[in-house]
Amino acid sequence: MSENPFRPTFGRTPPLLAGRDRLVAPFAETFRTGVWIPDRVSLVRGLRGIGKTVLLNAIEDAARRHRWLVISETARDGLADALAQTTLPALLRDNDPDGRRRELLGAGVSGASLSTRVVDEHQPEKALREQLTQLCGIAADRGAGVLITLDELHGDVLGEIRQLTIALQHLQREEAEIGFVAAGLPAGIEEVLQDKGTTFLRRAASVELDSLTLDETRRALREPIETAGRSIGDAALEEAALASRGYPFLVQAVGSFAWAAAPDDPEISTAAVREAARRAHRVLGTNVHGPSLSRLSFTDRTFLAAMALDDGPARMSDIADRMGVESRYASVYRHRLLLQGLIESAGWGKVAFTLPYLRDYLREHDVPSPLTRPARSTFPATEPDLTGAVDDVGDRTS
Ligand SMILES: Nc1ncnc2c1ncn2[C@@H]1O[C@H](COP(=O)(O)OP(=O)(O)OP(=O)(O)O)[C@@H](O)[C@H]1O
Ligand SMILES: [Mg+2]
Repeated sequence: MSENPFRPTFGRTPPLLAGRDRLVAPFAETFRTGVWIPDRVSLVRGLRGIGKTVLLNAIEDAARRHRWLVISETARDGLADALAQTTLPALLRDNDPDGRRRELLGAGVSGASLSTRVVDEHQPEKALREQLTQLCGIAADRGAGVLITLDELHGDVLGEIRQLTIALQHLQREEAEIGFVAAGLPAGIEEVLQDKGTTFLRRAASVELDSLTLDETRRALREPIETAGRSIGDAALEEAALASRGYPFLVQAVGSFAWAAAPDDPEISTAAVREAARRAHRVLGTNVHGPSLSRLSFTDRTFLAAMALDDGPARMSDIADRMGVESRYASVYRHRLLLQGLIESAGWGKVAFTLPYLRDYLREHDVPSPLTRPARSTFPATEPDLTGAVDDVGDRTS
C-alpha cells in the first residue's frame, strides 16, 4: 500500500499543481534572466482554498532554483521588527558569513552588532532598508536577486505593511534587484489598498486565482493516483472531477478520501469516489464555509440565506423582497459580499455564490439568520473518522 498522495491541508503543496504553470512560468523566467516579465510587485487575489499559498510556494521554489534569496513571510503583528531584528540579520550572516559586504558598506561589522544597533535606534524602516540593500548586494554577487513573499495580506496589520512597502519603495528607486509578491483574500487586499500609506501597492500587477478547468481537475486527480501506483477508471474520475468543481481544496479532499477508502484495491472505484465526495463536502463546510460565514454580520448572512432559496443565480429584487428591505439597502450588502469575494455578479441584477456548495451549506446548516430554513442536516451527527485521509488543517507549513 503506497502513501496517500493528496494534500488536503491549507498551505501544503499538492502532488500536482494543476493549471498554474502559466502563472509561475513568467516568474521563473525572471529569476533565470533577471529581466522582470511579471511586475516586480504583484498581488495574488483569490478565494479561501483556491491555492494562493501554494502558488507563493511555487514562485519561491522557482526563485531558489535560480539562487535567489527568498524571504517568505505572513502578514502579522510585529513583522517589520522580526524582519529587521531576526530574519534579515540571520540571512545576512548565513549568506555573507565573513561580513565582507557589510564592512564594505560601512553598516557594521557583524550580524550581531548590526542587530544591536537596530534595536537601539528603533528605526525598523531604516534597518529594513539597509539590511535589504546589503542582501540585494550579496544576491547580485551571485547573479541573482531577492524575493519577498507575503501571505495573508489583510487590513489588520497595515502598520507592518506600510513599513515594509516604504523599504521596498526605496530599494526599487535604487534599482536593487528585488521582487515582492503578496497574496490575500480579495477583501483583505482591498482593505490594504484603501490605506493611504500603501499607494505603492496600488500599482502592483494583479494575479487573480481562478478555479481549475475540468481538464486541469482531471489531471490533478489522475496523475498523482497513477504516479503513486494505482489507477482510477474514467467514470470514477469524471465523478471525482465534477464533485470537486475545480476548487483546489476539494480536489485534494475528494482525492484523499477516495484514495483512503480501500487503499489496497489497485483501482479506485466509483463507489469510493461517491463516498469521498460526501465526506469532502463535509470537510469543506468545516474548514471553509463555516469560517467564511462566521466573520460576516448577521445581515450579510441574511442576504446569503435569501440567495440560497434559489437553485441558481438570484435576482437582487427577490433577495430584497425576501429580506423585507428596499433594494437600495440590499445593494449595500451586495457590495460588501462582493468585496468579500463570497458572491459575484451573474448578469443584470443577479448574483451567484463563488464558493462551491455554499448554497447547500446554507440550506443544510442552521446558519443564524431569520431566513434560514429549519435545519435539515443531511450529515451524520458525529464527525467522520478522518484518520489517514485529511491532515490537520493548519497554517501555512512550508
Ligand atoms: N493548482 C492546484 N492543484 C491542485 N491542488 C491545489 C492547487 N492549488 C492548491 N491546491 C490545494 O488546495 C488546498 C488549498 O491551497 P492553499 O492553502 O494554497 O489555498 P489558499 O488560497 O492559500 O487558502 P486560504 O485563503 O485559506 O489561505 C491545498 O490542499 C492545496 O494542496
Ligand atoms: Mg493560504
